[in-house]
Amino acid sequence: MTQEKLKELLQDMSLEEKVGQMIQLPADVLTGNGLVTGPTGTTQLTEDQIGMAGSVLGIKGAERLYELQKRQMEKQPHRIPMLFMLDVINGFETIFPIPLALGCTFSPELVKETCAIAAAEAAACGLHVTFSPMLDLVRDARWGRVMESPGEDPYLNSRMAEAMVEGYQGDLRRKDKVAACLKHFAGYGYPEGGRDYDNVELSERTFMEDYLPAYEAAVKKGCRLVMTSFNTLNRIPSSGNKWLLRKILRDKMGFQGVVISDYSAIEEMVFHGVAADAREAAKLGIEAGVDIDMVSNAYAGHLAELVRSGEVSEQLVDEAVLRILQLKNDLGLFEEPFRAVDSALAEKLLLREDFRQKARETAAASFVLLKNEGILPLKKTETIAWIGPFVENPELYGAWSFPEKPEETVTVRQGVEGKGLSHMTFAQGCYLMDPGCPTKYGRVINPCDEQADLWLREALEMAAASSRVVLCLGEHRDMSGEAGSRVSLGIPEGQMELLRKVRQVNPNIVTVLFCGRPLAVKEIAGLSRALLVAWMPGTEGGNAVADVLFGDRVPQGKLSMTFPRTLGQVPVYYNHLMTGRPNSPREIHLFKNGYMDEVTAPLYPFGYGLSYTEFSYSEVSLDRREMKAGETITASVTVTNTGDTDGVETVQLYIRDPAASVARPVRTLKGFRKVPLAAGESRKVSFSIEEPMLTFYDIDMNNTSEPGKFQVLIGGSSDTENGAEFVLV
Ligand code: GLC
Repeated sequence: MTQEKLKELLQDMSLEEKVGQMIQLPADVLTGNGLVTGPTGTTQLTEDQIGMAGSVLGIKGAERLYELQKRQMEKQPHRIPMLFMLDVINGFETIFPIPLALGCTFSPELVKETCAIAAAEAAACGLHVTFSPMLDLVRDARWGRVMESPGEDPYLNSRMAEAMVEGYQGDLRRKDKVAACLKHFAGYGYPEGGRDYDNVELSERTFMEDYLPAYEAAVKKGCRLVMTSFNTLNRIPSSGNKWLLRKILRDKMGFQGVVISDYSAIEEMVFHGVAADAREAAKLGIEAGVDIDMVSNAYAGHLAELVRSGEVSEQLVDEAVLRILQLKNDLGLFEEPFRAVDSALAEKLLLREDFRQKARETAAASFVLLKNEGILPLKKTETIAWIGPFVENPELYGAWSFPEKPEETVTVRQGVEGKGLSHMTFAQGCYLMDPGCPTKYGRVINPCDEQADLWLREALEMAAASSRVVLCLGEHRDMSGEAGSRVSLGIPEGQMELLRKVRQVNPNIVTVLFCGRPLAVKEIAGLSRALLVAWMPGTEGGNAVADVLFGDRVPQGKLSMTFPRTLGQVPVYYNHLMTGRPNSPREIHLFKNGYMDEVTAPLYPFGYGLSYTEFSYSEVSLDRREMKAGETITASVTVTNTGDTDGVETVQLYIRDPAASVARPVRTLKGFRKVPLAAGESRKVSFSIEEPMLTFYDIDMNNTSEPGKFQVLIGGSSDTENGAEFVLV
């Protein structure tokens, strides 16, 4: 439809129709079931309002969506098609690693491919919009939603943002693409105490410097929707925050797409205490520029009346509705309301073999090898006991994955047996969760202790009789994700007991850790000769674990988020400030920055990850020592694989600005390159350094660079000291 036609349609619509386009229904209002992720206010809607609704979220299934679209359009005076939206954040039916693990691949290209697969599967099943990418920068592992983020670094998150938007979107008229919705705007990733939905207090400088870049990168890539966050940002709820949604998002970032609230977030402004009632919340939302009210009753219940009373200009409604109609038009829905729904195609696409292979490759690339005392890779001829609650657990996917066929997930046991290794032994060892453990859906009730005793006895006998033990331990998938904040960073005590007891009968332990967040793993690492973080690896998780442990694929992941030494260090992240009393990170000194009972260094820093080989770095060489704006310095290192097996190294470029008009982080990531190197091979790796990489928000909040000395650091982790100096004049 042309722009003119769109505007004519808008002019022909009644106020009720317009408001209907701004209402998003939860799945259960239309279908009686489906994904519900929080409290909703739309139960108060009339049948007419339900018929007028412009979109719905949380429904899967090509047939259902086809029928629903047909039914809904008949109720629409202008037969405007609905938008179908869903959280497809790391795969639709072929499930990929959680986004925090995708960040550990340091491979935007690979991540883009996974998003393109997710889009193809989702579109064939009738979906139009995915509530992804989630781009909240994260620094506090207590927060359950760190699993949804690419990690703690603005530069890495920005590259992942671009890759994800490109993977999902591309040309929206294509039948295998969906519109992307970045979230949660903004700053949701730093709630006080790591408590979900809590206040976020950030200086404007920190917000602009660290939290905004990834959202900005997604908008620059043409992301079509933005979702407002639940939290208050400096005491103002995002869904009513004009500074955030109009000054920053629309004016500064130039976003022209659709703004949708998070789940009930408009009406929740009453609970935040900035709106006396839902009517006032509706006024705040429309004035701030929220176009779609996700499942609250604010717009449905009050927006039309606010316009009729003259308290809200209809112009604001028209602008919002035009953006929504524009999105539907760009998706081709007016010409083809059933767009890509194709159950025959979906049947062929979902879990297609090449999609599964991509999931297997991505999972292996996302694993991070934190420790290896010469025990990995395992030999296929060895007698190995595979023990633990994750050996046969099919739920190897994150909290935001809802596969129709969970049985299609490859377990660790299936992955090992898939290699034809019949001499391996397998044991449960213990319950995944301890009796009485709180979960999001109630407390865990394990049937009987005798079972636990039986499992333990069997596991210890097996461990004693084997040359190696692989312990598969970790967090249940519901221990992270939304409403998954924890005051502990451990795994269930029953699993720790299993580890301690196995260690007494066999010290040759490889621990594989399944988790949705960085954990405090000092004891686990101390009792294991090797520690591999597998995160929540998805459909092909078991195959990927077997591939990496036997060396069929090399470990190449690098941490996208810091692993603390203890819970007490959190929040802990690499790009912190120097402070006026900098401490040696691994020593405790009186009257220096840090603690009296623990060093400040984390256990494993951002950017860290081992391989099955070793890499050495030459000194950093610069082709010049001085640079003006507009010029380029080339920084180079030669990286050598000094081991006897092939490997892949992620070479990381950091910049340090030791003296500026405001305190600057000890270093910031400004580039990375994945470099495959055969045993013994050397390769020169070069990065271009340009003035825009040196900009920051100065003492007057101007985004600018300042002349002076800089340091370039290049290595295989954020704690590299391999550097050289240059001057910006
Ligand atoms: C949830 C989440 C958001 C999700 C939305 C729809 O509460 O905060 O990330 O996209 O509701 O499910």
